Amino acid sequence: MAMTGVLRPGHISLRVLDLEEGINFYRNVLGLVETGRDDQGRVYFKTWDEREHNSVMIRQADSAGIDFFAFKVADTATLDRLDADLNAFGVRTERIPAGEMLATGERVRFEVPSGHLIELYAEKSDIGNGQAYVNPAPWVPDAERGIAPTRMDHCLLYGPDIEKVQEIFEKVLGFYLVEHVVMEDGSTNLGIWLSCSTKAHDIAFVRHPEPGKLHHISFKLDSWEKVLRAADIMSMNRVSIDIGPTRHGVTRGTTIYAFDPSGNRFETFCGGYDTYPDYQAVKWTWDEVGTGIFYHDRKLNERFLSVVS
Ligand SMILES: [Fe+2]
Repeated sequence: MAMTGVLRPGHISLRVLDLEEGINFYRNVLGLVETGRDDQGRVYFKTWDEREHNSVMIRQADSAGIDFFAFKVADTATLDRLDADLNAFGVRTERIPAGEMLATGERVRFEVPSGHLIELYAEKSDIGNGQAYVNPAPWVPDAERGIAPTRMDHCLLYGPDIEKVQEIFEKVLGFYLVEHVVMEDGSTNLGIWLSCSTKAHDIAFVRHPEPGKLHHISFKLDSWEKVLRAADIMSMNRVSIDIGPTRHGVTRGTTIYAFDPSGNRFETFCGGYDTYPDYQAVKWTWDEVGTGIFYHDRKLNERFLSVVS
């Protein structure tokens, strides 16, 4: 597909209960690269293979969870157009000036009906992945530490009114529905997996009474073997594993869910399939919801639906 409009997930701001513990986890266990700290007490990270300055920020707070999730858009003209389109659709936006986040241009922030703050931005410094832009080597020796995902890939958010959220993402931001899980009535969605690209999902939502909740932030690995290696590293570091290694029915990814030291669930996954906007959305029925979420167990664990941050 033509890559215009919204390009990809760009950054997440997470709350942690203990900053030093969080820094140690995200740097040494997950294996992100620390790229800066700001005067608000936020610590910035990227994966080793990402080029932009940051994709994950953590800050210390009294409760864990998500502050906001952002998408990169094609250019500043697109940012202005989407800002106007959101307003025309009845979504109030706020402009956050360039530089409020390190190395990051102006952001357009808005709240979706699930209670989450979403941001769009067009500019962020390219600090590279350690490889040259001319005649690069295929990988960088010693770049990978810990689990070492290649990118921050997507998030799954829990909150109410997900059909209104879907409308905003589809009608204004140009996303399309890739997969969905329907409830017992056969029509109301329990969960929606949305893409702005050819990835099986760039963001997903599950219906939940409490607004603004994070189910997981996901990091991509290149192979199933690296998913197994991630599980080894989690065990070595006594990371609390929720489930896996296993496979999702939805999106077909191979996965592990685990928790950071503050209780924010994260995923390390591999796979999923390529998709396009003309593809028919895949539906999972209520009686097969367990299979959709955890393909091997064929049933949900209680934590999947109830534990969020
Ligand atoms: Fe996921």
